[in-house]
Amino acid sequence: MTAPVVTIDGPSGAGKGTVARCIALELGFHLLDSGAIYRILGLAATENRIAFDDIPSLVELANSLELGFPYDNHHTDVMLNGVSVGRKLRTQMVADAASQVAIHPPVRSALMDLQRRQARPPGLVGDGRDLGTIVFPDAELKIFLDASVEVRAERRYLELIESGQIVERSVILRDLEIRDVRDRTRPVAPLVPAADAYVIDSSEKTVADVVAETRDLCRAKGLIQ
Ligand code: DC
Repeated sequence: MTAPVVTIDGPSGAGKGTVARCIALELGFHLLDSGAIYRILGLAATENRIAFDDIPSLVELANSLELGFPYDNHHTDVMLNGVSVGRKLRTQMVADAASQVAIHPPVRSALMDLQRRQARPPGLVGDGRDLGTIVFPDAELKIFLDASVEVRAERRYLELIESGQIVERSVILRDLEIRDVRDRTRPVAPLVPAADAYVIDSSEKTVADVVAETRDLCRAKGLIQ
Protein backbone atom coordinates (compact mmCIF):
# COMPACT_ATOMS: atom_id res chain seq x y z
CA MET A 1 0.00 0.00 0.00
CA THR A 2 1.44 3.44 -0.87
CA ALA A 3 1.56 6.17 1.72
CA PRO A 4 2.09 9.93 1.23
CA VAL A 5 5.64 11.13 1.87
CA VAL A 6 6.98 14.56 2.84
CA THR A 7 10.77 14.98 2.47
CA ILE A 8 12.86 17.64 4.20
CA ASP A 9 16.44 17.69 2.89
CA GLY A 10 19.27 20.09 3.58
CA PRO A 11 22.66 20.53 5.21
CA SER A 12 23.46 19.73 8.81
CA GLY A 13 22.08 22.27 11.29
CA ALA A 14 19.44 23.80 9.01
CA GLY A 15 16.72 22.65 11.42
CA LYS A 16 15.39 19.70 9.38
CA GLY A 17 15.02 17.32 12.33
CA THR A 18 12.93 19.69 14.45
CA VAL A 19 10.73 20.76 11.56
CA ALA A 20 10.26 17.13 10.45
CA ARG A 21 9.18 16.10 13.97
CA CYS A 22 6.70 19.01 14.29
CA ILE A 23 5.15 18.29 10.89
CA ALA A 24 5.00 14.51 11.53
CA LEU A 25 3.15 15.24 14.79
CA GLU A 26 0.65 17.51 13.05
CA LEU A 27 0.01 15.02 10.26
CA GLY A 28 0.10 11.97 12.55
CA PHE A 29 2.69 10.44 10.19
CA HIS A 30 5.67 8.17 10.88
CA LEU A 31 9.08 9.82 11.08
CA LEU A 32 12.37 8.91 9.38
CA ASP A 33 15.61 10.50 10.58
CA SER A 34 17.79 9.22 7.75
CA GLY A 35 20.93 10.89 9.14
CA ALA A 36 20.55 8.65 12.20
CA ILE A 37 20.85 5.59 9.94
CA TYR A 38 24.19 6.82 8.61
CA ARG A 39 25.22 7.80 12.14
CA ILE A 40 24.43 4.30 13.44
CA LEU A 41 26.49 2.80 10.67
CA GLY A 42 29.38 5.19 11.42
CA LEU A 43 29.19 4.40 15.13
CA ALA A 44 28.91 0.64 14.61
CA ALA A 45 31.88 0.73 12.21
CA THR A 46 33.94 2.61 14.81
CA GLU A 47 32.94 0.26 17.63
CA ASN A 48 33.63 -2.84 15.54
CA ARG A 49 36.89 -1.43 14.17
CA ILE A 50 35.64 -1.56 10.59
CA ALA A 51 37.50 0.90 8.36
CA PHE A 52 35.33 3.60 6.74
CA ASP A 53 36.43 2.32 3.32
CA ASP A 54 35.82 -1.40 4.00
CA ILE A 55 32.74 -1.45 1.77
CA PRO A 56 31.81 -5.20 2.02
CA SER A 57 31.84 -5.09 5.84
CA LEU A 58 29.87 -1.82 5.88
CA VAL A 59 27.26 -3.30 3.52
CA GLU A 60 26.96 -6.40 5.71
CA LEU A 61 26.48 -4.17 8.73
CA ALA A 62 23.90 -2.03 6.87
CA ASN A 63 21.90 -5.14 5.96
CA SER A 64 21.67 -6.19 9.61
CA LEU A 65 20.11 -2.97 10.98
CA GLU A 66 16.57 -3.12 12.45
CA LEU A 67 15.48 0.44 13.22
CA GLY A 68 12.58 2.49 14.55
CA PHE A 69 12.07 6.22 15.20
CA PRO A 70 9.66 6.85 18.08
CA TYR A 71 9.05 10.57 18.77
CA ASP A 72 7.03 12.94 20.91
CA ASN A 73 6.62 16.71 21.27
CA HIS A 74 10.23 17.19 22.27
CA HIS A 75 12.46 14.39 21.01
CA THR A 76 13.03 11.87 18.30
CA ASP A 77 14.61 8.66 19.54
CA VAL A 78 16.26 5.93 17.51
CA MET A 79 15.74 2.26 18.34
CA LEU A 80 18.40 -0.15 17.11
CA ASN A 81 17.34 -3.79 17.43
CA GLY A 82 14.89 -2.68 20.16
CA VAL A 83 17.42 -0.63 22.16
CA SER A 84 17.36 3.20 22.43
CA VAL A 85 20.56 4.67 20.94
CA GLY A 86 19.43 8.24 20.12
CA ARG A 87 21.71 10.02 22.59
CA LYS A 88 24.85 8.13 21.58
CA LEU A 89 24.48 9.33 17.99
CA ARG A 90 24.63 13.08 18.62
CA THR A 91 28.39 13.62 18.84
CA GLN A 92 30.73 15.29 16.36
CA MET A 93 32.77 12.10 16.11
CA VAL A 94 29.72 10.07 15.05
CA ALA A 95 28.55 12.79 12.63
CA ASP A 96 31.94 12.73 10.93
CA ALA A 97 31.97 8.91 10.76
CA ALA A 98 28.45 9.02 9.22
CA SER A 99 29.54 11.45 6.54
CA GLN A 100 32.51 9.19 5.66
CA VAL A 101 30.60 5.90 5.38
CA ALA A 102 27.86 7.73 3.41
CA ILE A 103 30.10 8.37 0.39
CA HIS A 104 30.05 4.73 -0.82
CA PRO A 105 27.35 3.90 -3.40
CA PRO A 106 26.97 0.20 -2.29
CA VAL A 107 26.44 1.35 1.30
CA ARG A 108 23.80 3.88 0.19
CA SER A 109 21.92 1.28 -1.84
CA ALA A 110 22.00 -1.19 1.06
CA LEU A 111 20.26 1.47 3.16
CA MET A 112 17.70 2.36 0.48
CA ASP A 113 15.21 -0.43 1.23
CA LEU A 114 15.41 0.22 4.95
CA GLN A 115 14.43 3.86 4.32
CA ARG A 116 11.68 3.07 1.80
CA ARG A 117 10.12 0.54 4.20
CA GLN A 118 9.39 3.42 6.60
CA ALA A 119 6.80 4.83 4.15
CA ARG A 120 3.83 3.06 5.73
CA PRO A 121 0.24 4.33 6.17
CA PRO A 122 -0.87 6.86 7.22
CA GLY A 123 2.30 8.47 5.81
CA LEU A 124 5.92 9.49 6.38
CA VAL A 125 7.86 12.67 7.06
CA GLY A 126 11.59 12.10 6.48
CA ASP A 127 14.63 14.32 6.76
CA GLY A 128 18.03 13.85 5.15
CA ARG A 129 20.18 14.79 2.18
CA ASP A 130 18.79 12.78 -0.75
CA LEU A 131 15.25 11.83 0.26
CA GLY A 132 13.58 14.04 -2.34
CA THR A 133 16.11 13.34 -5.09
CA ILE A 134 16.86 9.61 -4.74
CA VAL A 135 15.01 7.75 -1.98
CA PHE A 136 11.50 9.16 -2.50
CA PRO A 137 11.54 10.86 -5.94
CA ASP A 138 7.70 10.71 -6.05
CA ALA A 139 7.15 12.33 -2.64
CA GLU A 140 3.98 14.46 -2.35
CA LEU A 141 5.90 17.39 -0.90
CA LYS A 142 9.64 18.14 -0.99
CA ILE A 143 11.29 20.84 1.09
CA PHE A 144 14.95 21.86 0.90
CA LEU A 145 15.86 23.63 4.13
CA ASP A 146 19.04 25.68 4.02
CA ALA A 147 20.82 28.25 6.24
CA SER A 148 24.20 29.98 6.24
CA VAL A 149 27.08 27.89 7.61
CA GLU A 150 27.63 30.40 10.46
CA VAL A 151 24.00 30.16 11.62
CA ARG A 152 24.07 26.36 11.40
CA ALA A 153 27.33 26.15 13.37
CA GLU A 154 25.88 28.35 16.13
CA ARG A 155 22.75 26.15 16.35
CA ARG A 156 24.82 22.96 16.49
CA TYR A 157 27.06 24.55 19.14
CA LEU A 158 24.08 25.41 21.38
CA GLU A 159 22.58 21.93 20.86
CA LEU A 160 25.82 20.18 21.88
CA ILE A 161 26.38 22.48 24.89
CA GLU A 162 22.79 21.86 26.00
CA SER A 163 23.37 18.10 25.85
CA GLY A 164 26.38 18.54 28.19
CA GLN A 165 29.21 18.20 25.66
CA ILE A 166 32.28 20.40 25.81
CA VAL A 167 32.94 21.82 22.37
CA GLU A 168 34.48 24.88 20.72
CA ARG A 169 32.56 27.08 18.30
CA SER A 170 35.47 27.28 15.84
CA VAL A 171 35.83 23.48 15.76
CA ILE A 172 32.12 23.05 15.00
CA LEU A 173 32.29 25.61 12.20
CA ARG A 174 35.32 23.90 10.66
CA ASP A 175 33.75 20.43 10.96
CA LEU A 176 30.52 21.65 9.36
CA GLU A 177 32.43 23.21 6.47
CA ILE A 178 34.35 19.96 5.87
CA ARG A 179 31.17 17.87 6.10
CA ASP A 180 29.28 20.30 3.79
CA VAL A 181 31.93 19.97 1.09
CA ARG A 182 31.96 16.15 1.43
CA ASP A 183 28.15 15.90 1.35
CA ARG A 184 27.71 18.37 -1.54
CA THR A 185 30.48 17.08 -3.81
CA ARG A 186 30.29 13.29 -3.45
CA PRO A 187 29.62 11.68 -6.82
CA VAL A 188 26.59 9.69 -5.63
CA ALA A 189 23.51 11.32 -4.10
CA PRO A 190 25.15 14.69 -3.41
CA LEU A 191 23.26 17.21 -1.33
CA VAL A 192 21.26 19.22 -3.89
CA PRO A 193 17.62 20.37 -3.91
CA ALA A 194 15.29 18.21 -6.03
CA ALA A 195 14.08 20.07 -9.12
CA ASP A 196 10.56 20.16 -7.62
CA ALA A 197 11.59 21.04 -4.04
CA TYR A 198 10.48 24.20 -2.24
CA VAL A 199 13.66 25.88 -1.00
CA ILE A 200 13.37 27.58 2.40
CA ASP A 201 16.30 29.54 3.90
CA SER A 202 15.98 29.37 7.69
CA SER A 203 18.94 31.69 8.49
CA GLU A 204 16.66 34.52 9.61
CA LYS A 205 13.66 32.41 10.58
CA THR A 206 12.52 30.72 13.77
CA VAL A 207 11.50 27.07 13.89
CA ALA A 208 7.89 28.26 14.25
CA ASP A 209 8.21 30.32 11.02
CA VAL A 210 9.53 27.34 9.06
CA VAL A 211 6.92 24.97 10.51
CA ALA A 212 4.16 27.45 9.57
CA GLU A 213 5.51 27.73 6.01
CA THR A 214 5.75 23.93 5.70
CA ARG A 215 2.25 23.53 7.15
CA ASP A 216 0.88 25.89 4.46
CA LEU A 217 2.59 23.79 1.78
CA CYS A 218 1.12 20.59 3.30
CA ARG A 219 -2.31 22.22 3.18
CA ALA A 220 -1.84 23.26 -0.44
CA LYS A 221 -1.00 19.62 -1.25
CA GLY A 222 -4.12 18.36 0.56
CA LEU A 223 -2.11 16.62 3.30
CA ILE A 224 -3.86 18.64 6.06
CA GLN A 225 -7.36 20.16 6.06
O1 DC B 1 21.60 14.79 9.19
P1 DC B 1 22.81 14.31 9.98
O2 DC B 1 23.73 15.43 10.37
O3 DC B 1 22.41 13.45 11.13
O4 DC B 1 23.62 13.35 8.95
C1 DC B 1 24.90 12.81 9.27
C2 DC B 1 25.65 12.46 7.98
O5 DC B 1 24.99 11.36 7.31
C3 DC B 1 25.73 13.57 6.94
O6 DC B 1 26.89 14.34 7.07
C4 DC B 1 25.71 12.84 5.62
C5 DC B 1 25.02 11.54 5.90
N1 DC B 1 23.65 11.47 5.37
C6 DC B 1 23.51 11.11 4.04
O7 DC B 1 24.50 10.92 3.35
N2 DC B 1 22.25 10.95 3.51
C7 DC B 1 21.15 11.19 4.25
N3 DC B 1 19.94 11.02 3.71
C8 DC B 1 21.29 11.60 5.61
C9 DC B 1 22.56 11.74 6.13
